[in-house]
Amino acid sequence: MKILDLIKKARSHRSFKNIAVPMDDLMKIMEGAHFSSAGANKQFLRYFLTNDKNICSKLFKDVVWASQIQWKPSEDEAPGAYIIIFTNNPSKLPLNFIYTDCGIALQNMKLIATSLGYGVNFMEPVKKDDILSLLEISKEYTPLFVMPIGIPTDDVILTEVEDENMKYSREDLGSHHYNQFVPKLSLEELIIGKK
Ligand SMILES: Cc1cc2nc3c(=O)[nH]c(=O)nc-3n(C[C@H](O)[C@H](O)[C@H](O)COP(=O)(O)O)c2cc1C
Repeated sequence: MKILDLIKKARSHRSFKNIAVPMDDLMKIMEGAHFSSAGANKQFLRYFLTNDKNICSKLFKDVVWASQIQWKPSEDEAPGAYIIIFTNNPSKLPLNFIYTDCGIALQNMKLIATSLGYGVNFMEPVKKDDILSLLEISKEYTPLFVMPIGIPTDDVILTEVEDENMKYSREDLGSHHYNQFVPKLSLEELIIGKK
């Protein structure tokens, strides 16, 4: 698949088949983070990989699903695995370095996951303390992002933004299948200069 086609296919998914994701596949996805660029090459991000049923069902409640719309996934639509990114920022690098490193790692992992037939999302770790105690990780670490991983049951369809409305919407097709419509601005609206 061409790189642009893979980028277009790699969307945010919020409902999944209720099946396990093998640790071997999580390790393949992790390679995307392994070879990411890193500010000053400090490599201060750390990762927790889990496909444990009990941990996954708790993590499902430690993030906010689809804050823009009323629909929320049910527990039988939950993902089969998560990768969580942490930092203890030992070098006290500026926050823009941390967030940029985190974004690069997330997107690299998303591209690999998509190429393996999985769907993912990037989610704010809202209940940070709960996540640290659930995973038995020292408080010197901060959870930066949570990435659910599973076989998606929603198809994401990119549309054009109309009337400046960028809200995504969801159509229930029955039997846990959905269309999710995601408006994107045009290239002309994004580019403010070109010489
Ligand atoms: C920084 C960031 C934070 C996000 N946080 C959440 C989140 O907490 N919950 C959620 O359901 N989706 C979250 N998303 C997914 C966005 O809503 C999604 O990227 C957006 O609707 C566009 O859809 P697309 O990724 O398919 O293009 C997040 C995405 C990004 C980039």
